[in-house]
Amino acid sequence: MTTQYIAAIDQGTTSSRCIVFDHDGRIVSVGQREHRQIFPQPGWVEHDATEIWDNVQIVVREALEAGGLAPSQLAAVGITNQRETTVVWDRETGEPVHNAIVWQDTRTDALTRELAGGIGQERFRERCGLPLATYFAGPKLRWLLDEVDGLRERAERGEVLFGTMDTWIIWKLTGRHVTDVTNASRTMLMNLHTLDWDTEILDAMRIPAQVLPEITSSAEVYGPARGFLEGVPVASALGDQHAALFGQTCFSPGEVKGTYGTGTFMVLNTGTEPVMSSNGLLTTLGYKIGDAPAVYALEGSIAVTGSLVQWVRDNLGLISSAAEIETLARTVDDNGGCYVVPAFSGLFAPHWRSDARGVITGLTGYVNKGHIARAVLEASAWQTREVVDAMRSDSGVELTSLRVDGGMTADNLLMQILADVLDVEVVRPMVAETTCLGAAYAAGLAVGYWPDMESLRANWHKAAEWTPKMDDQVREREYRNWGKAVERTLGWVE
Ligand code: G3P
Repeated sequence: MTTQYIAAIDQGTTSSRCIVFDHDGRIVSVGQREHRQIFPQPGWVEHDATEIWDNVQIVVREALEAGGLAPSQLAAVGITNQRETTVVWDRETGEPVHNAIVWQDTRTDALTRELAGGIGQERFRERCGLPLATYFAGPKLRWLLDEVDGLRERAERGEVLFGTMDTWIIWKLTGRHVTDVTNASRTMLMNLHTLDWDTEILDAMRIPAQVLPEITSSAEVYGPARGFLEGVPVASALGDQHAALFGQTCFSPGEVKGTYGTGTFMVLNTGTEPVMSSNGLLTTLGYKIGDAPAVYALEGSIAVTGSLVQWVRDNLGLISSAAEIETLARTVDDNGGCYVVPAFSGLFAPHWRSDARGVITGLTGYVNKGHIARAVLEASAWQTREVVDAMRSDSGVELTSLRVDGGMTADNLLMQILADVLDVEVVRPMVAETTCLGAAYAAGLAVGYWPDMESLRANWHKAAEWTPKMDDQVREREYRNWGKAVERTLGWVE
């Protein structure tokens, strides 16, 4: 028998990728393609779901070709995806009825305030674990039903289907209309305790149940792929941050990972019972492997970290590649008194303030572009610190080390700043593509390619670590200054 592999498709915010892994969890080959970011108005962000599906097919073919593999050599394919991004399509033609509304999009600001009514942002938290915010899929779906001509009537007649990107891709691959618990937990529409759609929330948001996919576990065979992957079992779906938790093998309560991509997402495994947050974190699903009990997590979502570096490159032109931010930041020893708070989509965890907008503060004639670059890197670290403090208060878990992954972890200065600011060891694994790896692991477990989760832990190897070096007093002073800078972002939008 020829050697078998597992492919993972990562449908992300800026690109779609396919990575093929071998039995040791090592990367065999990769395909990647970016898609357009569509900005119809300030604060609005859309994707073309058809372009994304075309790219998914291209990147899978690229990865197979690069590895010299035939589809028959894939034991399974797993899906991971940008979460919350919302698409509605025609059940018969498969045509999207509108561009997908991306998680960063703030068009539902007024709607979420209206839904909060006299009760407040926490109206549905007990049921779904989330505050009312523009981030989540449910309000985006409601916006489409209200604003796209005739859509509500078509939805009520069962002619259109809703999905997040996992659902869209699995439907394209297999014809089944499903979503896994982790993606469903980002809609605001799933009850955290029953793992089913919550009729009270559906009624309050005026969402007809017939548009919703069936909720499944994160690791099971959803069906054989049709078309270009004919017969390959499609065997996992996990939102990208949940996949990264799984790929980092954070299988025990108290284990935490931080993924540094467009934004930063800190996820803490809290075990088989949901922990409600009183400090601005999200209660979410960690993963559910087949029939095993669901594992819950607390998440601190930070909207803007890597995309701040892209903004410095593309909108300010201070650097010509993202990697240059480190070189520029190393031209100075500190931030020169300057702080950058990138509240481009308002502030997510732990603040949840859609009225916030970004600031660069503490400017004097002394501050130069090196100081600004340094403040840009520090912004990622301080935002992480706010989330870690909230995790400690909610769970009582004292962080002893942080497992990191994602593109920004190539920045050694940022990793050192992170260790300094958190006052804990920061560790990066050998395979930093943990999002794809997590989806591959879940798919591999579903088809018996890997026997159990213990065998996956054995694949995790440390590649690099950073230990804290910052003086306690400096850390506390800088954190106070960061807090003052955050204050200045609040209430900007009236
Ligand atoms: O919640 C949004 C998150 O899933 C997006 O992740 O890596 O595609 O920016 P990423």
